[in-house]
Amino acid sequence: MLTQIQLAFFIAALFVVYTSFLQARLYLKRRQFAKSHGCLEPRCKVPLKDPVLALDFVWKTLQNAKSDRYLEGTYERFQQYGSTFTAKHLHYPTIHTTEPENIKHILATAFDDFKFSSFRVNAMIPLFGKGIFTSDGARWSHSRAVLRPSFARHNMTDHLPFMESHVDQLIKAIPKDGSVVDLQKLFFAFTMDTATEFLFGHSVHTLYNMQLGNDAVADDSDANFVDSYTYACLDIVHNIRLGALSKLRYSPKAKQAQKRAFAYIDRFVDEALALRNSSKSSRADETSKYIFLNELAKETGDRIELRDQILNVLLAGRDTTASLLSNTFWELARHPDIYAKLRDEVAFLNGREPTYEELKDMKYLKFCLNESLRLRPVVPANTREAIRDTILPRGGGEDGCSPMFVKKGTHVYYSVWSMHRREEFFGKKTEEYIPERWEGLKLGWEFLPFNGGPRICLGQQFALTEASYLTVRLLQKFSRIEARDSRPWTELYTLVAYSKHGTLVSLTPA
Ligand code: HEM
Ligand SMILES: *[C@@H]1O[C@H](CO)[C@@H](O)[C@H](O)[C@H]1NC(C)=O
Ligand SMILES: *[C@@H]1O[C@H](CO)[C@@H](O)[C@H](O)[C@H]1NC(C)=O
Ligand SMILES: *[C@@H]1O[C@H](CO)[C@@H](O)[C@H](O)[C@H]1NC(C)=O
Repeated sequence: MLTQIQLAFFIAALFVVYTSFLQARLYLKRRQFAKSHGCLEPRCKVPLKDPVLALDFVWKTLQNAKSDRYLEGTYERFQQYGSTFTAKHLHYPTIHTTEPENIKHILATAFDDFKFSSFRVNAMIPLFGKGIFTSDGARWSHSRAVLRPSFARHNMTDHLPFMESHVDQLIKAIPKDGSVVDLQKLFFAFTMDTATEFLFGHSVHTLYNMQLGNDAVADDSDANFVDSYTYACLDIVHNIRLGALSKLRYSPKAKQAQKRAFAYIDRFVDEALALRNSSKSSRADETSKYIFLNELAKETGDRIELRDQILNVLLAGRDTTASLLSNTFWELARHPDIYAKLRDEVAFLNGREPTYEELKDMKYLKFCLNESLRLRPVVPANTREAIRDTILPRGGGEDGCSPMFVKKGTHVYYSVWSMHRREEFFGKKTEEYIPERWEGLKLGWEFLPFNGGPRICLGQQFALTEASYLTVRLLQKFSRIEARDSRPWTELYTLVAYSKHGTLVSLTPA
């Protein structure tokens, strides 16, 4: 007869044997998988002082972030370890890459093998709900299918006159006596105004309210929404930084801000739903002005989903376009020759508003915007998580040109910021702003400001049109721009990257 203790030992031993068997089987299966795909050992594994949790690697990253050198720090690592290397981040394996072939693989060729990293998604859910930025797999496909028609029906030609009144407000807010102004702050206000008008059909009029001063705001609820929304977004950035630790945190103030933002948006959602109901019978809205939310309500009648998606698009569209504008003018203020060349390109208009076709033909302006997006990509880095065992086509073997095995659960971190600094793709002096480098440059996945593959940015055309139009209008109104800040460009990396010290300049009216 077995005693109870013997029985317990027997079961434990059986368990150990069984799990070892499973482990061994998995190991062999993976080896077979790697072999059949021609995978070799990674060319570079970052040597870690702490091989268990990689705290030394994580610590260095945090130190860099604290001194506003996070992006530079990632670039230095690629220079030190090569264009693809493996490391760890706390308990999970990571691969870092700036290899276009690898990025194309993650985002397009093997799209279904990867998802968004769970940290970011979890931190974003409270504010952004089940929107496109918090979804993967089937729910993402659904989001994309719901959103895409609304973008497709938007007409850029019609968008230009609609922007002009906001451009007017922006120009009014710029001092004409040459005193210092932070253009970045104005660009953020501008994109908030145009994005809300585009999305809800109602602008929050931030620029207008800024001129009235804080005492005489045109509409309280608009200003409150902007404050609440901004506060709730910052809270999310905080949670993304904390990662898993954010679960221990609860901010009643952020919850309040969120509630207020929701209440504001629900007003417009209900209007769109009412229109959806009425136009089902009477088709009354055929000639009315384009409002994104009304278009979206043709695809879904779910009140919560409409609110979630509209908040996601606001997030996607607002800070990104503002950063592109801000970074562009930061450079223009330091390159009078480039500013003058751009003014030459728009001189034929004699001060009138450009048409959409004319904007598309402005070659040097496009060089400048591409150069801004190269040197300071608005979304400078990104992560995808492997949802099954898979491979990357580069990074294995002595020369790093062979495929490497990617274990399920690995986080692949790709740095667009660092890839955009590779001289073999962009020519010499990649730390400098040189629009002329785009003459004759033909690129594929090496230049990736808007992402690629099935999740490519839906607002690319919108953003580039808006940035081009506003730039042209400013070139026409001001003959000179000068930097009023001697500090180097310093990153402020929240959900997007922009200038920590703003864009302090003075402008001379034409
Ligand atoms: C300079 C401006 C912009 C840049 C650099 C930019 C960049 C990006 C990038 C890199 C992504 C991919 C994010 C990821 O998959 O992790 C993305 C996605 C997206 N962008 Fe943009 N974006 C810009 C402006 C806009 C604007 C103005 C809108 C809307 C009006 C917009 C709407 C979207 C949407 C809806 C997605 C999600 C696509 C999906 O997941 O399927 N973007 N954008
Ligand atoms: C946009 O609208 C203009 C008229 O305002 C029209 O000429 C043009 O064909 C439209 N473009 C698209 C892509 O629908
Ligand atoms: C729209 O119609 C549905 C029923 O068809 C109704 O339940 C809903 O309350 C209506 N919504 C609005 C905003 O009128
Ligand atoms: C800017 O970059 C895009 C994406 O690579 C490219 O298609 C386009 O031709 C570039 N524009 C110019 C003017 O170089």
